[in-house]
Amino acid sequence: MKKILVTGGLGYIGSHAVVELVNNGFEPIIVDNLSNSYAGVYSWLGEILGHKPLYYQVNCADKDGFREVFKANNHIKGVIHFAAFKSVSGSVAQPILYYQNNLDSLLTLLELMNEYGIGNLVFSSSCTVYGVPEGGIQVDENSTLQKPNCPYGQTKLISEQIISDVVATCEIKAAVLRYFNPIGADVSAKIGELPIGRPDNLVPFITQTAIGLRDKLSIFGNDYDTQDGTCIRDFIHVSDLANAHVKALEYLDKQEGSVSVFNLGTGKGCSVMELVKTFESVTGEKLNYEFVPRRAGDIPAIYANADKSNRVLNWSCKYSLEDSLSSAWKWQKHLKDINFEIKL
Ligand code: UD1
Repeated sequence: MKKILVTGGLGYIGSHAVVELVNNGFEPIIVDNLSNSYAGVYSWLGEILGHKPLYYQVNCADKDGFREVFKANNHIKGVIHFAAFKSVSGSVAQPILYYQNNLDSLLTLLELMNEYGIGNLVFSSSCTVYGVPEGGIQVDENSTLQKPNCPYGQTKLISEQIISDVVATCEIKAAVLRYFNPIGADVSAKIGELPIGRPDNLVPFITQTAIGLRDKLSIFGNDYDTQDGTCIRDFIHVSDLANAHVKALEYLDKQEGSVSVFNLGTGKGCSVMELVKTFESVTGEKLNYEFVPRRAGDIPAIYANADKSNRVLNWSCKYSLEDSLSSAWKWQKHLKDINFEIKL
């Protein structure tokens, strides 16, 4: 079985990727320092998979500690690098922490991949690298990259540059995946999005409000130049997104050298209001919400052209927006059923 190192493998997207890897015959090895994830996710993964994958509690920026993982595991075929801080507001408040963590981890990983002759890297990037899109709100991989509006976004843009520079000098091949907005939860409802503290992202805020953990959802801005005045995003089921990582690994295996970039989205724009209404209709829950002024730094509208991923990776989404939102709701209810204490 092909061993794949999954950094950040206990996080939201990482844990769903671990499931997809096992379902597709890979052997994931998880590296996570629990800086932004719950230790319980490891047991829940064990319940879903019927066994617990190998797991190391290590910070990827700690070269000596991380090297031990490489030393202990021969024949690692590839790495999926999720481990990074991802809060836009957190990065504005603590830029040094964000640059240090996100860039040091990547640089250390690249160094160790070189040292141990590991050739395939799948990297988590973000649509934030497109900034406020020029020339239309649907972006493809050739759309102009813009200066992101926060240090978090900058770390993704700089990381893409680092990867491209490094790959030019060594045997590493890389697939850079630009995520749009992942939502939803595994079909088992045993893993899902589990932010620590007040969620920045829309869907966990919605489900926490619907279940009574929060008073109301604030919708940031209803005066954008869109059909209903709210922002437009491309919301993609996290399991579809996770599956693309498996496809990217398979693709890299057949590649010569270099970096390939892929958008991961549904290819459909959806407004925040549309998402709220869909949540209400699929769950039957009435959501308490209010419109408040725009959130600083929000992009008015963006969604993916995912044709390249569909064609080159032979990948497509199988879940609808309705599936995504009902799975997110099932997950939130599951947490309540097991009396899980969410750090609010
Ligand atoms: C942004 C980045 C994304 C990054 C993510 C990390 C862009 C286009 N996207 O996602 O690349 O990976 O941050 O967290 O830069 N909203 C509300 N009320 C809330 C929360 C959100 O109205 O309580 C609205 C936002 O204004 C936005 C939409 O919901 O219009 C989605 O917000 P969010 O889930 O935070 O994701 P992005 O900001 O799109």
